[in-house]
Formats: sequence, structure tokens, C-alpha cells
Amino acid sequence: MKPLPYRLLDCGDKEKLEMFGQFKLVRPCPQALWPKNKPEMWSNVDSVFIRTSEEKGYWNKHNHNIPDNWQITSANGLIWQIELNQFGNVGVFTEHWLYADNLVNFFQPKGKILNLFTYSGSNCVILAKNGFSITVVDSSRQALSTYNQNLQNNKISLKGQRFILEDVFKFIRREVRRNSQYDGIMVDAPSYGRGTKGEIFKIEDDLVELILTCFKLLTPKGKMILTLHSPRFTPKILEILVSQLCKGKTVEVSEIVPICESGVGLPSGFLVKVF
Ligand SMILES: C[S@@+](CC[C@H](N)C(=O)[O-])C[C@H]1O[C@@H](n2cnc3c(N)ncnc32)[C@H](O)[C@@H]1O
Repeated sequence: MKPLPYRLLDCGDKEKLEMFGQFKLVRPCPQALWPKNKPEMWSNVDSVFIRTSEEKGYWNKHNHNIPDNWQITSANGLIWQIELNQFGNVGVFTEHWLYADNLVNFFQPKGKILNLFTYSGSNCVILAKNGFSITVVDSSRQALSTYNQNLQNNKISLKGQRFILEDVFKFIRREVRRNSQYDGIMVDAPSYGRGTKGEIFKIEDDLVELILTCFKLLTPKGKMILTLHSPRFTPKILEILVSQLCKGKTVEVSEIVPICESGVGLPSGFLVKVF
């Protein structure tokens, strides 16, 4: 199948409606509290994710011809691997595409980049495509394998790219002991996560140490991107927190808001730029 584009169609009633290439999917979306903006768009759905517990669920396939995996394209022409899983994830977090292209300029001059909680690299494949050397860290072998696949599908050389399958804290604490330095650091902090040996990451408990440790790994002129998706943090909380922890740096916070084709915005987290 030829890769077709991703489209965010509509959201509402705590769900979102998206086209991943030729397939129309519905997923839970707790922040979309308002009614669906264009109910007529929600017909002929191919699969709906039904949550059965806080973390897991299953895909209720209305179209039994949906393959196990396929490819789509983003507006910048990159190709992405799609794989539906039991957590309601599809292999990409498309909200990152909104700002990722701008990072190619933000991180100039081109240096060493560290990307934590990488998953399949929605926020950094464009950097690799533009010749940045990126060290990616994730505790999921499957996630790093999909990231690798995304690099290969986009004909990106693996030279200079490092893949680290490890708990984020274990890796960054060791990097501090080794006096490692990075010109750019990207942290897409999940609200909750687990390391390779079950180490628990909880944003409320771990965010301060995470930012402080990353700040130690930054070169004096280094820049950092922090993205968060927990509604617990407001832009002002993030601005004060990151300014206090990263003394001497400028901190800018904005909200990541993709706009559905129906016209309604879908708030999808905060972007903190440190430079
Ligand atoms: C929401 S995804 C990140 C999305 C990604 N940054 C992107 O651009 O698509 C969270 C990722 O963090 C990883 N993770 C969670 N806790 C971790 C930990 N303690 N150490 C390493 N990786 C962790 C998960 O395996 C998952 O791939």
C-alpha cells in the first residue's frame, strides 16, 4: 500500500477521530470534553479502541481488512510505521509534528542531541533526516525497533545514531558521572512510565531531578526541549519551575494544539523551550 497522509478529523465526547492513511480510527481522548464538532464525519470508521482498564484495551475492528502494520506520511513528507497496540497507541504521537520541523533551526549549530523517552521518534526523525547525530533512550525494545524502522524507511543513515535500551534515569546519571555533554536535549516526559527493570517514573516525583540532571548534561550554549502531557502542569508552573532549575537560560512555554479538519482545536500538551 502506498503511504497516504495522516489527518486529524474531529474530536469530542472524550474521543478523537483520525485518518491514518486509508484507515479511519477512533480513540479515547479525555481532554475533548466538548460535543463532537462534525458528527457526520464519524461514519464508516475502520476501528475503535475500547479501553478495558486504566492502561489497556482492545481494537474493535469494523473493517477486518486492516493490516497489522502499514505506513503513513506526515506533511513534511516523512514516512511513519503504524502498528496498533493494546495500549491504544498506533506507533506515532502526531502532536509532535507540529513543532518538530522548527527544531532543525532551533538546534543550530548542529551538534550532539540526546532524546529521552523516544518511542518511535515522532519528535526527532526530522532531525536525523537533517543530519543530526542523536542518542535515543527508551526502555521498550519494540519502540526502538520502530524508531529504527522509521529511520530506514526514510533512507536515513544510521551512522552517528545511538540507540540505548535503558531506564532514562540510569542512563543520564551515568552520563553525568562520565562528564558527557550534549548540545541539545529533548525530553518528552510521560506522566507515568517504567524502565527496563521495572523502575517507576512518575512525573510528580521525578520531574525536578530529570530537569536538573539534563541541565548538567547540557553544554554552556546548549538548548533543551521539554514536552509534557500531564494536565497537572500549567504553562506558568512550567515557566517558573524550569527557570528556577535552569538558571541563566531563557524559558518559553507554549501549548501544543493541533487543529482538527472540523475546525476545533485539540490541546495536546505543553512545549518548553530552554535556550
Ligand atoms: C509517550 S511515549 C514518548 C513519545 C515520543 N517522545 C515521540 O516523540 O513519539 C513514552 C515513552 O517513554 C518510554 N519510557 C517510559 N518510562 C521510561 C523509563 N523509565 N526509561 C526509559 N523509557 C521510558 C516508553 O517506553 C515510551 O516509549
